[in-house]
Parts: sequence; C-alpha cells; structure tokens
Amino acid sequence: MQPLEGKKIVLGISGGIAAYKCAELTRRLSERGAQVKVVMTRAAKEFITPLTMQAVSGHPVAESLLDPAAEASMGHIEIAKWADLVLLAPATADLIARMAAGMGNDLLSTFVLATDAPVAVSPAMNQQMYSNIATQENIATLRRRGMLIWGPASGEQACGDIGAGRMLEPMQLVDLCISHFQPKILQGKKIAITAGPTQEAIDPVRFISNHSSGKMGFALADQAAKLGAEVTLISGPVNLPTPSNVKRIDVLSAQQMHQAAVEQATEHDIFIGCAAVADYRAAEVAEQKMKKVAGTDELVIRMVKNPDIIATVASLSENRPFTVGFAAETQDVERYAMDKLTRKKLDLICANDVSQTGIGFNSNDNVVSLYWANGQQHFSLASKQTLAKNILEQINELTQ
Ligand code: PMT
Repeated sequence: MQPLEGKKIVLGISGGIAAYKCAELTRRLSERGAQVKVVMTRAAKEFITPLTMQAVSGHPVAESLLDPAAEASMGHIEIAKWADLVLLAPATADLIARMAAGMGNDLLSTFVLATDAPVAVSPAMNQQMYSNIATQENIATLRRRGMLIWGPASGEQACGDIGAGRMLEPMQLVDLCISHFQPKILQGKKIAITAGPTQEAIDPVRFISNHSSGKMGFALADQAAKLGAEVTLISGPVNLPTPSNVKRIDVLSAQQMHQAAVEQATEHDIFIGCAAVADYRAAEVAEQKMKKVAGTDELVIRMVKNPDIIATVASLSENRPFTVGFAAETQDVERYAMDKLTRKKLDLICANDVSQTGIGFNSNDNVVSLYWANGQQHFSLASKQTLAKNILEQINELTQ
C-alpha cells in the first residue's frame, strides 16, 4: 500500500518562482497514492500554467472565485470539504499576510477560510521579505492558529540573494505529507540512535574505518521522527542529510561516540545502536604523517580495544533506556546475534547478514531478523526505510 493511498490533498499555489516545482510535487504525491486537486492564484498562473497542473493532477484546476462553470462542477466550498490536507506551496508573503488578516479576496484565500482540513504552509519568498517583521508576525499568527509551517529552506535564491526563504524541495514536502498522515505511535517517546561508521586515526591523514554509509541508522531516525518520537541521532562521518525534525550530533571516533552516547542515553526512553563502531583503535596516534621506513616492508600498528557503547548503555543502573543493538554477521547469523543479545544485556537485537551483496553495508535495502528474550521476527528484503518502520513498530510493541 502506498503511504498516501486514498489521501485527498488540495495544493494551493500562489505566485512565486518556486511554483514551477509544483508539477513535480504533484506527480510525486500522486505516485504515492494521493489524489491532488489544485487551486491557483492569478499570479501563480504567470509561473506555471493551469493546463500543466491539470495534466499532472488529472483534475481541472480551480482558479477563479467567480467562474460559474467551475462553481457548477465543484464549488470552492465542496473542494474545501473534500480535502484531508491543504498544502500551500509556494506560499508567498502576500498570501501569508492575507491569511493572517482573515481575508477572502480570491479563490485560494476564500478556500482556506472555508476548509476545516489541516493547512500546511510552505513559505517561499526573498530572504529580506521573509525576515521582515510583518512576515514573521504573520507566520507566528498562522502557527498560533494551528497551521503547519513547513520550511522555508536556506540557500541561494532566484533573485541572487542568499538566505532563508526558499521553498522546500518537492520530495521534502512529500515526506512531510507522509509524516503528517502517519499514526504517531511513538509520540511522547525520546529515542537516541547511533549511525554510520567510526574513524580511528592512525596519524593526521590516515584512519581505520568500515563501509557503513549510515543509511540504516538515518532511516531509523527518519521513521522514528515521522512516527512522532523526539529523536537524537549520533552520527559517525557520513554523507547524508539530516532527516527532518531530528537533532544530530556528529562524531568521528568510537571514543567520541561513546561519550555522546553516555551523555544522551539516560535522557532517552529508547537507545538504538546501529553504528558500525570500530572494535579497536591505534594505541598511539602519530602526531605527524607517518613516513615509510627504509629497509622494511612491514608496518605494525598496535591496536587497543574501544569501549563497547551499547554494552555501556545496557548496563546503566539508573534511567536505563530500552536498549536495541544491531548484529552485523557474515555466518551463523542467529547464533552470533543471540550471543550478543545476552552478552551485551540488550533488550532486542536486529541481525543482518553483511556478507550478501545488495543488503547490509552501503545498500538501500536490507534483510533483518529481530531477536529478544522470548520472541523473534523476520523481515525479508525491503528498503531500509520500510525495515526501519517495521523495527520501530516492533520496539513500540515491546515497550508498551
Ligand atoms: O550504515 P549502512 O551502510 O546502512 O549499514 C548498516 C549496518 C550494516 C552498519 C547496520 O545495519 C548494522 O548492522 N550495524 C551494526 C554494525 C556492527 O558494528 O555490528 P557488530 O555486530 O560489530 O556490533 C554489535 C553491536 O554492538 C552493534 O549494535 C554495535 O553498534 C555495537 N557496538 C560494537 C562495538 C563497539 N565498540 N561498541 C558498540 O556499541
């Protein structure tokens, strides 16, 4: 089942340059099962045509309050009642101001007054207009009235300025829509998650690490936030954007991750150790770049054990969170996973076979088996996002 199956979304487009992204936004929403109907302001039509929006949404576009033909087929009050969610993207400073003032002087603003569906506003405007006190107060007013404010992003703007005011990208808006409709089974829960590899320095330019990309841990953080949890992500060095509504702490080495985990663990209800932590680090880190030694073909680096982060958390005597580990195995997956479950005193372990190509390290998919004291659950090949949701649903059941 698609995540937006059966959801009715009204996309309200006002006149900003970001309106050109609305065709893609509509397609991505439709691909995920949503029905999309479009309402446009007069100015929006200067940036994208109603014909384009009709073609991608599969529905006629509502654009005028005083169009008898459109009102006869489906009037603005009916569309307002039809919607499960109203997404205003891009929402210009003008539209935001008119909504804050409660005006109904065109179809879109009238429609917003007439709907009792949740309204999400995705601001898009020049950075100076965005930071203007009038706009800020208008946005605060909308927020106070219960509207959802999604964005804006920061960056280079169409006018050449740099700053806050860019509309969120279509996929970010799609993700927020999905998250909006998801039941918030983890509402009120605080979850800390470790992700990615650690880097163990040998000298100022070299380190020992592993192939973890962070995708599994980031998927867990993303899904946990979408399910309503307050999420802290302790991440090793990875190349991934921070999921929405997730607090991120960046670390490099196992010792740094250990320190961050110990500081965070007791503040959280659930701790998930998904990071591929290096078991050993160099006993001495050379201060200068190591040189080749003439007359020998060997280099011996003495290694010492790193602290076991998940075992430390699981052994906490006070405010111990429900502790979930991962087991990356290449053989005898169940036996080794069960051994780690008991040896590290975990509540749950998620085992994955990292010897197979296409799953485990640095892939988008995985296969995961969960083991706990008196149960187990196998999840076959699926995306890490899907598996993350499955794992969190199981954790939620076990922590009821
Ligand atoms: O990041 P991706 O590319 O998406 O790949 C995902 C993954 C394969 C890294 C992930 O699914 C996974 O299996 N993570 C755990 C990797 C690992 O280190 O497994 P392990 O069996 O060596 O360790 C067992 C548990 O102890 C893990 O929860 C690990 O985080 C923890 N550990 C290990 C050593 C240590 N010093 N401290 C720890 O906390």
